[in-house]
Amino acid sequence: MKTYTDYFFDEPAFDLHDGGYVPLEVSNAPEKPLNVPPLLKPDKETAADVYYTVTAEAGETQLLPGAKTKTCVYNTSLLGQTMVYRRGQHTHVTLKNTLPELTTFHWHGANVSGPYVDGGCHAPVYPGESKHIDFTLVQPATTLWLHAHPCPSTAEQAIGKSQYWDVTNSNDAPGMDEPFQAHGTQFLVLSRNGHAPYPNEHGFKDTVGVNPGETVRLLVRFDLPGVYMYHCHIIEHEDGGMMAQIETFDPAKLKQEYKMMDMDTLMMALAKERGVKPSEIWMGGMQSYEKMGMKM
Ligand code: C2O
Repeated sequence: MKTYTDYFFDEPAFDLHDGGYVPLEVSNAPEKPLNVPPLLKPDKETAADVYYTVTAEAGETQLLPGAKTKTCVYNTSLLGQTMVYRRGQHTHVTLKNTLPELTTFHWHGANVSGPYVDGGCHAPVYPGESKHIDFTLVQPATTLWLHAHPCPSTAEQAIGKSQYWDVTNSNDAPGMDEPFQAHGTQFLVLSRNGHAPYPNEHGFKDTVGVNPGETVRLLVRFDLPGVYMYHCHIIEHEDGGMMAQIETFDPAKLKQEYKMMDMDTLMMALAKERGVKPSEIWMGGMQSYEKMGMKM
């Protein structure tokens, strides 16, 4: 086994944002299994189909001594539970929102069709409402993530087979490292500023860190037609507009029409729930960065 003692990203950016570069050491702590959240029990399961209910709800957890911390969770009081997708088995999910505001259910890294099933901005579930989605995953075994994705923005493009995407972070060094994520695809990292990617980047990925002043070349391919978001995976950056969308379709087939939730409607709904002006929602996420004296 080869042990890498370096971090796989640029040190100046790490020093600036993440508390300072510390060379890695091999730990002599005993190995332990990955801490996987408990399994979510299906409502029903057959060889061909599995049915789940995922509820976005308010919770409370004792994290620190003293007062409990309020949480937004899925089916438990902290974070969520683990869902298992078996290859070829059809997954049906009831999405329930008992939170006091709208949310979406996004299957980060799962190649499911956009924009409705994928759960980006365009698929809100309003407070007190439920929706049903279903999908079958056909992709290599992997560990994925479920998270909310309520947000703003728009653009359009058409895609054929595999494509090269060059993703550039135009921040000056030592500015922020931007984690670029694309929905609906698993891509390969081909190069960083023309050099080989990091040793941990040889497999398929859905998110890639792009260092300041760097252009990362990706080989991207979409297998399902749909509308997919691509965005910076730092929530405040995404809220601040580092987000767009791409439409993929098969040129040999009739292009599907999607009924898309426009951004104004979404912002108005969120603002109404919170009892604030839409403009206050737009800036909300940015303030934490301003407070730290950072630029995006
Ligand atoms: Cu993990 Cu588009 O998000």
